Amino acid sequence: MIRLFYISASILSADFSNLSDQIRQAEDAGADWIHVDVMDGHFVPNITMGPFVVETCRKITSLPLDIHLMIEKPENHIHSFINAGANWVSIHIEGNPNVHRTIQLIHSLGAKAGIVLNPGTPSHAIEAVIPFIDLVLVMTVNPGFSGQSFIPQTLGKISAIRDMLDKNNKEAILQVDGGINPQNISAVAQAGANCFVAATAIFKHPQGIAEGLHSLRKELQKKMRLSPQIQERD
Ligand code: DX5
Ligand code: ZN
Repeated sequence: MIRLFYISASILSADFSNLSDQIRQAEDAGADWIHVDVMDGHFVPNITMGPFVVETCRKITSLPLDIHLMIEKPENHIHSFINAGANWVSIHIEGNPNVHRTIQLIHSLGAKAGIVLNPGTPSHAIEAVIPFIDLVLVMTVNPGFSGQSFIPQTLGKISAIRDMLDKNNKEAILQVDGGINPQNISAVAQAGANCFVAATAIFKHPQGIAEGLHSLRKELQKKMRLSPQIQERD
C-alpha cells in the first residue's frame, strides 16, 4: 500500500510578532499542515494558545489546521476549536476517561480525530480506540515545550503502532511530534510514521523557514527513493 507523507509545521517556535508572514513562508515552502499546540498549564507545565489563535491561523492559511490539545477535560473545548477552524483535533489518551465519546464529538462536528500517547504510555493503551480514529500521534518528547531532544526509544513504539494500524485501521495517519530533525526523520519514517511535526527544525532553522522545511523534505525524498511505497502528497 502506498503511504503519503506530510510535514506539519508547529507554530510553537514561530515568531508571533510576525505570525502571518511566518505561516505564509511555511506554506510557500511546502508545509502540508499547520500544527497548533494548545497547553493549559495543568496537563503540561506550560500555557500557550487557545481557539483565538486557531481562528487567526484560519484567516492566514487554507492549509489543514492540526490542533494538538494538551489540556485537561478536552471535551469541554472541542466546539470552540472546531468553530475556530480546526480540521484535525488530537486528544491525549492519558487522564481522559471519556476518550471514545470525545472522538465521536469531534467527528460529529465535522473534524478528523487523533489520539496521542506520551513517551511513558505503552502502545496497547490505545488499542480499543484504534478503529475509531483518523490519526495516532506518538510523542517523541515529553509534551510541554519545543526544542527538546528526540527520545530514540520511542522508535519501537512507532513500529508497534504501525503494525496495529496495518491490522485494524490502514487509512489512519501515524504522526510523530518532538525533536524531529533532518538527522532522525528517515529513521522515524522507517519505523512507520508518515506525518512529521516540527517546530524548531522549521521555524528556528538558521537559514530560515524555507530551508528548514526543505532539509526535512530532502531526507524524506531520499527515503522515498529507497522505499517506493512512501510517497509525497501531490
Ligand atoms: C511539544 C509540542 C510539539 C513541539 C515540537 O509539546 O507538542 O509540537 O512544538 O517542537 P520541536 O519540533 O522543537 O521538538
Ligand atoms: Zn504538538
